[in-house]
Amino acid sequence: MKHSFIQLFVLLSGLYQVSAVGISINNNTHSFMETHDVSSTIPLHCEVYDNTKAETLTWYRGNRQVNVTSDNSVNSSHVCISPASVQDNGVSFTCMLKSNTTVKVSVLLDVKFAPILSGETSVTVEVGKTAQLTCSFLANPTADMLWRQNGNVITMVQSRYEQQLTSNTFQLIISKAVKKDAGNYTCLASINNKTYTREFTLVVEDKKEALPVEAIAAAVVVGALIILFGMFARRDKIFKKCLKVRENTSL
Ligand SMILES: *[C@@H]1O[C@H](CO)[C@@H](O)[C@H](O)[C@H]1NC(C)=O
Ligand SMILES: *[C@@H]1O[C@H](CO)[C@@H](O)[C@H](O)[C@H]1NC(C)=O
Ligand SMILES: *[C@@H]1O[C@H](CO)[C@@H](O)[C@H](O)[C@H]1NC(C)=O
Ligand SMILES: *[C@@H]1O[C@H](CO)[C@@H](O)[C@H](O)[C@H]1NC(C)=O
Ligand SMILES: *[C@@H]1O[C@H](CO)[C@@H](O)[C@H](O)[C@H]1NC(C)=O
Repeated sequence: MKHSFIQLFVLLSGLYQVSAVGISINNNTHSFMETHDVSSTIPLHCEVYDNTKAETLTWYRGNRQVNVTSDNSVNSSHVCISPASVQDNGVSFTCMLKSNTTVKVSVLLDVKFAPILSGETSVTVEVGKTAQLTCSFLANPTADMLWRQNGNVITMVQSRYEQQLTSNTFQLIISKAVKKDAGNYTCLASINNKTYTREFTLVVEDKKEALPVEAIAAAVVVGALIILFGMFARRDKIFKKCLKVRENTSL
């Protein structure tokens, strides 16, 4: 009775030991998020706790393994992201036991940076056609986006002007372009009372001359008519000749 009680205790404590092994990143035993500024250094320290034997740790950036030296992987492991980049924003770093990959902790990186605006700045459109100005942006935290025309806030007149916002593009679409639409357009990203801009230029061109294809088609039609009339004229002459011949023969 006493013997089996001790056996049970040993068994339970053994189970406890197995389930207790865990790891932490920067002292967090569960997955978490860390906020940093772009260009800063982000140290990540992973550590095993309640382990009974030496444990090897592996790191992943997203789903790709990160190389660490063997002397930086037993029981604890240190990686450093330096400098933190825009590309590190929203990326998870995971530390796990090599012997049991279900024992793991992740840190989601929240990297703050000033809005980055891009996109083709010189746009040309023909009168009557649709002009599309595309301002691509990256921002964390989210910026307020705005278009200005020659410095003024654009009024969405006559529904000819349309704005389209996606997670990383802000478009100004001007349908049935008129000469007056030409000018400078500014894409503005505002955050914490700071504004970042990108200048766009819209050129509105006159309608192009009739296409050469149409001119050629017109020439072909005219040519055909000339030939047709020519044939009629010749037929007339032929008939006249016949008449003459008949007149001659009748003479
Ligand atoms: C791996 O760890 C989990 C959680 O601690 C545990 O439930 C599981 O039994 C372990 N697997 C092995 C093969 O040790
Ligand atoms: C983790 O906790 C220990 C003890 O409280 C402390 O000395 C250490 O600085 C902490 N490490 C981090 C990365 O917060
Ligand atoms: C890792 O931890 C285990 C258990 O505490 C210990 O026996 C071993 O010596 C440690 N190894 C290193 C390299 O720290
Ligand atoms: C990781 O290390 C191995 C062996 O040193 C090397 O062949 C491989 O290219 C490294 N991978 C990366 C992503 O650095
Ligand atoms: C557009 O910007 C250019 C250069 O800044 C300037 O010379 C031009 O006068 C501006 N045009 C209008 C319509 O504001």
